[in-house]
Amino acid sequence: MFEGKTILTGVKPTGTPHLGNYLGAIRPAIRLGHEAVDNGGKHYMFIADYHAINAEKDPAVLNQKMKEIACIYLAGGLDPKKSVFYRQSDIPEIPEITTILYAYTPKGFMNKAHAYKAAVDKNIAAGKPNDDGINMGLYTYPTLMAADILAYDTDIVPVGKDQVQHVEIARDIAGIINAHYNKPLLHLPEYYVDENVAVVPGIDGRKMSKSYGNVIPLFDEDKAIKKAIFSIKTDSRPMEEPKNPDEILVYEIYKSIATPEQLQEMGDGLRQGKLGYGHIKNMLLDAVINEIKDAREKYNYYMAHFEEVEQMLAEGAAKARPAAQATLKRLKDAVFGR
Ligand code: ADP
Ligand code: TRP
Repeated sequence: MFEGKTILTGVKPTGTPHLGNYLGAIRPAIRLGHEAVDNGGKHYMFIADYHAINAEKDPAVLNQKMKEIACIYLAGGLDPKKSVFYRQSDIPEIPEITTILYAYTPKGFMNKAHAYKAAVDKNIAAGKPNDDGINMGLYTYPTLMAADILAYDTDIVPVGKDQVQHVEIARDIAGIINAHYNKPLLHLPEYYVDENVAVVPGIDGRKMSKSYGNVIPLFDEDKAIKKAIFSIKTDSRPMEEPKNPDEILVYEIYKSIATPEQLQEMGDGLRQGKLGYGHIKNMLLDAVINEIKDAREKYNYYMAHFEEVEQMLAEGAAKARPAAQATLKRLKDAVFGR
């Protein structure tokens, strides 16, 4: 898939990723990016730290989240020799491109953008003035995101459903500029939503999400992971009672991590009344710990040796900048008639 294509993955360093993020977003993004590179394409993978400052003002927290996210991608198998791995704020061309895009971006695009609208809706629900606490960074969020995408002549932007509109806005802005100058100054990107990635349920049965507080932590100590898994909702039916596995939350979560054989074993055990909730929670715990064992070691290593990661990010930025510089030059030449 995506032979010869340029793929760009951006991730905002906010929140601490959980098992759902890891299985549902981080690992699939790395796989997709590497696959493109193996098939003659390119993969840009960056940490959107300028996007994060709209909401987070504490430098210590920002730095910690940036480190965590960088190390999580490396732990999840991101290979900086394959993927161009960098930090948004290390590419000064991005804010320059953003400034040019502003001049061609209809204000109405920003009014209807999800990130902004969600913040307004929250204010309205809380009985506050519409724009309470909303800064220009949040309001113009999709324009900066458009610069991220357009700078590298990106073909494909893999995103979750919530980000589709932002990629469409990037494409529309590029179209407006190309039409104005009547030449293909900017490459038109497409979004890609991977429908095969399953939503991992949380310990209460709703989608695992940091906003629901129902997560299984990722690179935490075994004790914390165990605590979360043992608080997964169950009922009081005895072990001997045959159960339909599809009605059992532990089994649902197991699906996103177990091999087909392991899944079969748990399913049979439940159907035949041979496995109790304690058993299946231990099976899930083993699978989670087994899945993340190596990654957690790598994660801890990189967190403790972040200077190595800084070096990778610096090398990544050096690789990324020439493409952004070329795009910026194209734009400036056209816009200023040079
Ligand atoms: P959260 O819901 O915890 O706030 P985000 O909305 O920040 O997570 O999502 C970050 C990425 O992780 C998105 O690409 C999203 O699709 C993915 N993701 C989040 N929760 C899950 C889940 N429970 N299962 C699978 N993927 C998920
Ligand atoms: N807005 C994205 C998010 O919230 C992060 C992001 C910033 C991004 N720039 C991007 C994603 C460019 C893809 C491409 O998750």
